[in-house]
Amino acid sequence: MERTFVAIKPDGVKRGLIGRIIQRFEDKSYKIVAIKMMNVTPEIAAKHYEEHFGKPFYPELIDFITSGPIVAMVVEGRNAIKGVRHIVGSTRPDEADVGSIRADFSSYSTTNLVHASDCPDSAEREMHLYFNDNELCENYKTMFELIIDDHGGFKQ
Ligand code: PPS
Repeated sequence: MERTFVAIKPDGVKRGLIGRIIQRFEDKSYKIVAIKMMNVTPEIAAKHYEEHFGKPFYPELIDFITSGPIVAMVVEGRNAIKGVRHIVGSTRPDEADVGSIRADFSSYSTTNLVHASDCPDSAEREMHLYFNDNELCENYKTMFELIIDDHGGFKQ
């Protein structure tokens, strides 16, 4: 199973959308293996968004992610990196697929509610930026895992 890093950004927290956003991942059968609310320091923000350093929107991006608490998560599931980004939707909410979080709840590229890793290398790096290994809870099975096998078939 693949793991990805997801963060509900300060706008999602302040708008009271934490539960509704997490619900979308759980509805899809993804498993939350780590979760915490936290303030992002400027140091963590700089590491997180280092690939965007120098772009015109970089200062706005850093100001925004440090402007209030986020909810950081590690989400696990089949093709979770691609699947989670599809649920989150395109960076620009006016281009995001209807039904995605950004299309349904956001209108701006800055306040676009959720961050999700874009590739396996980013997922690995971002997970370890926000979580220690001992914060990952692997010792439980979701209902989905109990009834569906690795090939998508029903377990008896
Ligand atoms: S790029 O240039 O294609 O690499 O950038 P993109 O992947 O579209 O966006 C990277 C992150 O920057 C945020 N973003 C912005 N923030 C502030 N202002 C503007 N104009 C802006 N445009 C993009 C975007 O939400 C991405 O943040 P994350 O947290 O990765 O979703």
